[in-house]
Amino acid sequence: MADFVGALDQGTTSTRFMIFDHGGNEIARHQLEHEQLLPQAGWVEHNPTEIWERTRSAIESTLNKANLSHGDLAAFGITNQRETTVVWNRRTGRPYYNAIVWQDTRTDRIASALERDGRGETIRHRAGLPPATYFSGGKIQWILENVDGVREAAEKGDAVFGNIDTWVLWNLTGGTDGGVHVTDPTNASRTMLMDLETLSWDDQLLSFFGIPRSMLPEIKPSSAPDAYGTSRANGPLGGEVLLTGILGDQQAATVGQVCFSPGEAKNTYGTGNFLLLNTGEELVRSKAGMLTTVCYKFGDAAPVYALEGSIAVTGSAVQWLRDQLGIISGAAQSEALARQVDDNGGVYFVPAFSGLFAPYWRSDARGAIVGLSRYNTNAHLARATLESICYQSRDVVEAMREDSGVSLDVLKVDGGVTANELCMQLQADILGVPVSRPVVAETTALGAAYAAGLAVGFWNNTDELRQNWNEDKRWQPTWNDDQRHQGYAGWKKAVERTYGWVEVD
Ligand code: G3P
Repeated sequence: MADFVGALDQGTTSTRFMIFDHGGNEIARHQLEHEQLLPQAGWVEHNPTEIWERTRSAIESTLNKANLSHGDLAAFGITNQRETTVVWNRRTGRPYYNAIVWQDTRTDRIASALERDGRGETIRHRAGLPPATYFSGGKIQWILENVDGVREAAEKGDAVFGNIDTWVLWNLTGGTDGGVHVTDPTNASRTMLMDLETLSWDDQLLSFFGIPRSMLPEIKPSSAPDAYGTSRANGPLGGEVLLTGILGDQQAATVGQVCFSPGEAKNTYGTGNFLLLNTGEELVRSKAGMLTTVCYKFGDAAPVYALEGSIAVTGSAVQWLRDQLGIISGAAQSEALARQVDDNGGVYFVPAFSGLFAPYWRSDARGAIVGLSRYNTNAHLARATLESICYQSRDVVEAMREDSGVSLDVLKVDGGVTANELCMQLQADILGVPVSRPVVAETTALGAAYAAGLAVGFWNNTDELRQNWNEDKRWQPTWNDDQRHQGYAGWKKAVERTYGWVEVD
C-alpha cells in the first residue's frame, strides 16, 4: 500500500491540500485564499469556479512540494465548509449562480415563514435543525426562485445541487464527463432536507422548499472504499486515486481530535466556532438551541450523532478589525494589542454580523459594541473581540450541559485562532475549565484523511487513530468565581442589546 493519504480542506476563506503519513504527521501542504464576495449587506458569496481552480492548484502544488505523485496516495478525503450552496448545470458544468455561503442572511424571510405555520417544528424534529438562514434548504429555494431558468432546468434534471464537497467531488471525478454526484450524511444533515433517522432525503421537507428530488446528490457513508469513485488522470492528481472519505469540516475536526466516544467534545476556532459533542448512536434532540447533526457514518456501522453549537462569527471578527476597521495589520497583532490592557475596560462586543446562531438563533440580531466610555481605546476593542469568541463559546457550553448533562472536564480546541495564546487563556478563564490544544492543530484535514484512510485499511480502526493524538499545550483557569460571574453577566446584557435590529417578518 502507498505510504500517504491526501486530504482536501475547502474552507470558508481558503482551500488547502495536505498529505499525512501513518502517524498522522503532516508531510506537506499548500493553501490558497479565494475572494469573499459581499454584494449587499448580509449577502456572502463565493465563485464556485474560483474554488475549483484553487482546489486544482492546491493539490498540484502540494504534490510538487512533497515530490510525490498520485501513486503515493493510498486514499483521498474531502472536507469542506458546510451548508454553502452551489447549483450548476450537469451538462455544461457551469454554475447558475455564485455559491451562497453559510453566513449569508438573504433567506431570513424564508426561514421566518417556516416558523409561522408549524413547518419549523417538523424541520426541528426530522432534520434536527431550527429553521435558519444558515442551512442549505432556503438557499436552494432562493436560487430556484430568483435565477432565470433554474427551475425549468431542475425539473428536466439538468440543474443539480451540491454543497462544496459535492461540487469538488463532481469535478475531481470527471465533471461533465461522468462526474459523481454524491455527498455524505454529515453534509446532508446541514440542509434541512435529510431525515436524521433514515439518513435519506425526506419528501415532506423537500416540499417545504419546493426542491425537486432530482437535484440532490446521492447520500453515501462518510468513509467507504467504493463510495465516491476515483480521480481522473487529467485532473490535478494526474492519475487515479481512490476517493473514500467525505466529512463536513466540523465533523472532520471531531474525528481529527479522536472524539470517538460519547461525551467527548472539541471546539474549532475558525471563521466561526463550532463545538461538537459526540452523543454516540443516540440522537439527542436539543431543547437548548443546539443542533442535532450526524457526526460520522463509517461504512456499514451505525451512524454516530453529535450535538453542535455553531457560532457564526469568531475569527472573522478579528478579520473585521483588520479589514474593515484597520486597527490591526494581521491576526497575530490582535493579541499584542489586546495585551496592552488588563481587562476589557467595560467594553463588550457582540459580533452578530449574521444574526446570532447557537444557542440564540436570532436572525433579527446585528452586531453591537456596548459599554464604551471616553477612556476606551483600540486595545479594549481588541480585547473585547477576543473575549467575544470565548463568551460565545461559553454560551454554547452552558447550553450543551443543559441538553446532555455532560460537564466538560477539559475543552479540546483546534483551528487558527488557537495560535492566539491570550484568547486561549481567556477561554479557560471564562469557562472555568482547562483548555487543551493538540500537536497537530490541522485536525480538520486530518479528520478527512482518517475517514479516507480507514476505508482502505491504511488505518485499521479508531483505536489506532487515538495513538496519534498528543497534547501540545494546556491553559488552566486563573479567574476567581466572582470575576467569571460578573464578566458573564455583562456579556449576557450585551447580547440582549443586539436583538430586533432588522425586520425579518
Ligand atoms: O458550518 C460552517 C462551517 O463548516 C465553516 O467552517 O472553518 O470554513 O469557517 P470554516
